[in-house]
Amino acid sequence: MPQNASILLVDDNELIINTIKMSLGGEDYDFLTAFNGREAYEIALKEKPSLIITDVTMPEMDGIELCRKIKTTFETRLIPVIVITAYDALVDKLKAIKSGADEFLSKPFNPLELKIRIRSFLKFKLLLDKLEDVSMVIASLAKAIDARDAYTQGHNQRVSFVALKLADFFNISEATKSEMQEAGILHDIGKIGIPEIILQKPGTFNQNERKIIQTHPIIGEEILKPLKSTVNFRSIIRSHHEKLNGSGYPDSLKGEKIPFPVRIISVSDVFDSLSTNRPYRNAMKLDKSLEIIKEEVEKGFWDSEVFKALEKISAEDEIKILYGF
Ligand SMILES: [Fe+2]
Repeated sequence: MPQNASILLVDDNELIINTIKMSLGGEDYDFLTAFNGREAYEIALKEKPSLIITDVTMPEMDGIELCRKIKTTFETRLIPVIVITAYDALVDKLKAIKSGADEFLSKPFNPLELKIRIRSFLKFKLLLDKLEDVSMVIASLAKAIDARDAYTQGHNQRVSFVALKLADFFNISEATKSEMQEAGILHDIGKIGIPEIILQKPGTFNQNERKIIQTHPIIGEEILKPLKSTVNFRSIIRSHHEKLNGSGYPDSLKGEKIPFPVRIISVSDVFDSLSTNRPYRNAMKLDKSLEIIKEEVEKGFWDSEVFKALEKISAEDEIKILYGF
């Protein structure tokens, strides 16, 4: 049993909060409380509780929206969420499943059942924490790559940001978006295996250097292979330099063989590279970046629909501010 696990209780009815606290009396838990989803989300981000138990109907932000936000935020996605529903509230349960809830609790509570279920959830969370630790190590590695080269600083985060904007444009599911977010942050992790002298070389690479640098997607996939939690997005990392006409690397994949999330990450990657300073040239203005990507679409490198979406989202203030356009 984890010591001093923290449980965030979310309900606009203080009576329910107190009932749960009383049911769990005698257990060594720290309780945090919030009276609506918005408040709970802020606490979850800051305190990273071991478990969240939330009501559905609340002012400002309801329990379903809270659960959706928790499960789609990188920092909070592994926190188990239990949603409290009325015994026969099937619609609420369906909504909660869609938003990623881990379990339901029906009112009225059976104190013994509550105790046992919460214990087992906290054990589960302990296992997840171990997984999360590993993925944090990987994220730190990604940051370390960023830090090796002042020119690419923030590249991974920006690629991830642009890719998610594009994913929203295409109404891509939350689950796939979350995989794309991780892939965006980790896509160049394999560069850790590339000598710095090549990575930072101003000017063009010779054939041998190009061969070496082109191994980074495979190295990246290999680094992540031992981690089960990366299974759904490792292929994005391996394929982020593939081109639709088959001229990319490492597998020279063509057309339909390149999944849509990969196409989005690739275009986001190229867009970020063009729009930021490099050792061999200054950042390009928005129009110039788009013009080059358009030419590459015509050459058969990139997906034209993704490019059209990029034209639209790059007109938004968030992107303009991010790149200083
Ligand atoms: Fe790359």
